[in-house]
Amino acid sequence: MSKITTLNEFILERQADFPFATGELSRILNDIAFASKIVSRDVRQAGLVDHILGAQGGQNVQGEEQQKLDVVADLAFIKAFENGGEVCGIASEENDEYVAFTSETAKNGHYVVLFDPLDGSSNIDVNVSIGTIFSIYRRTSPVGGLANEKDMLQSGDAQVAAGYVLYGSSTMLVYTTGKGVNGFTLDPSIGEFCLSHPDMKMPETGRLYAMNEGNLNIVEPGLVDYIEYCRSNENDKGGPYSGRYIGSLVADFHRNLIKGGIYIYPETTTAPEGRLRLLYECNPLAFIAEQAGGLATSGRKRILDIEPKRLHQRVPFYIGSKQMVEKAMSFLK
Ligand code: AHG
Ligand code: MN
Ligand code: MN
Repeated sequence: MSKITTLNEFILERQADFPFATGELSRILNDIAFASKIVSRDVRQAGLVDHILGAQGGQNVQGEEQQKLDVVADLAFIKAFENGGEVCGIASEENDEYVAFTSETAKNGHYVVLFDPLDGSSNIDVNVSIGTIFSIYRRTSPVGGLANEKDMLQSGDAQVAAGYVLYGSSTMLVYTTGKGVNGFTLDPSIGEFCLSHPDMKMPETGRLYAMNEGNLNIVEPGLVDYIEYCRSNENDKGGPYSGRYIGSLVADFHRNLIKGGIYIYPETTTAPEGRLRLLYECNPLAFIAEQAGGLATSGRKRILDIEPKRLHQRVPFYIGSKQMVEKAMSFLK
């Protein structure tokens, strides 16, 4: 039997690679793994809660109001960070404002975490893959005080770690600390994430394109031409690409990371900044894409170079295999 490496072992082995090797960042990654196991369990039971337990009038067995899975996930991660003590504050897609933790331990934490607790909300009720996306930064505010908004509004290049959890046919955690990308699959029988995808590299090119083509009439002409190129018999593959759009960014990205492809959520006339969030979705996935040899841009600018102005800022997003993103860019005027 070949040796199994658990996420815990892997994190410890790699701890010396971290910029400030005090073990804090390792503990945050462990907090994330812990929270994601809780979310994974809840996701796996979602159908039961809606269709069987839901018959109790919207309350669970403890008499608590049932909460939407995005809120359940949000709370699971916030609690894990708050209890962990290494994180001084968080910002999440589910909260209007950032949260600065007030305990003395938290105020001495060096990190902030920004996250999308549950990505792909429209897929929750229909049993399709969803995910969690996270991004970790060193705080810029003084240690010992409360986290502030500037801690949250750092450019993607300042990330010290980022990753995602995919609640798919299996649950996977994929992350980077800027030294490559590694993927772990949850073995539910032992409750451990095990290294299954070491040193992930995105193929330089591929033939999968993912975009909500329902928006094709409201995007810029250059993008229409690019999609036409993907569908044509005379593209670089000599035949049409395959369209694949799950509608869960994490799942679409993960597939493209493994098989090669491009994911596009562009600006539209109804959503001039696009739909996806720079801080919770685009920056972390851009960091992973680049670490795996891929690219991520807004169509005009490298995602990781963007200086965020607002917590919930949105940005057009082109991410995937290097050559495919470059090709798409050549169509945008
Ligand atoms: P979230 O569920 O966190 O709000 O994110 C949904 C995102 C993303 O996961 C997905 O790719 C995209 O929105 C789907 O948007 P459309 O339905 O407009 O295609
Ligand atoms: Mn999302
Ligand atoms: Mn979400």
